[in-house]
Amino acid sequence: MKDKIFKALVEQIEHEFYSHLLYLSISSHYENIPLEGFSKWFRKQAQEEHTHGMKIYDYLLERNLHVDLPAIPKPVVKYKSHEEIFDQALKHEKKVTQWIYDIYEMALKERDHATHVFLQWFITEQVEEEKNAQDNLDQIRLFGEDKAALLVLDQDFAKKAG
Ligand code: FEO
Repeated sequence: MKDKIFKALVEQIEHEFYSHLLYLSISSHYENIPLEGFSKWFRKQAQEEHTHGMKIYDYLLERNLHVDLPAIPKPVVKYKSHEEIFDQALKHEKKVTQWIYDIYEMALKERDHATHVFLQWFITEQVEEEKNAQDNLDQIRLFGEDKAALLVLDQDFAKKAG
C-alpha cells in the first residue's frame, strides 16, 4: 500500500473515532435533559462510528500494516437548540462522505484496487447516514419547537434506535 493511502486511512480512523465521541457527547446531552429517545439514537450512532473505525483498523492489519493510533480531538458541539445539534450532525456526515471520496479517488489513481473495493462499503453506508441525518433534521425543523410533538418524536427515536 502506498504511504499516502495508508496515512489517509489512519486519518479516517481518527475521523470515525472522533464521530464516535461527537455522537456520544450529544447522547449524554440528551440523557441529561432528559430526552431519552434522542439519547438512545445518538448512542447507537456512536457505536456504529466505533465499528467504522475498527473496520478500517482491521483492514490495515489484514494488509500487514502497523497502525499507530492517532490522538482523537475533543468533540466540539454547540447545544443552543435541537435544530443546531441535528444540523451539526448532518454537516459532520457530509464531511465524512467527502473524506471517504478523497481516499476512494486516491486509491483509484494509485491502482490500489483492494482499498478501492474496501471503501465501497463506506460509500454505501454514507448514503444511509446522510439520509438519516437529513430526515432527522427535517423532522426537528418541523416539530422541534412544539413540546408535545417533541415528546412523540423522542419516542420515535427510541424505537428507531431499537
Ligand atoms: Fe462513519 Fe457516520 O460516518
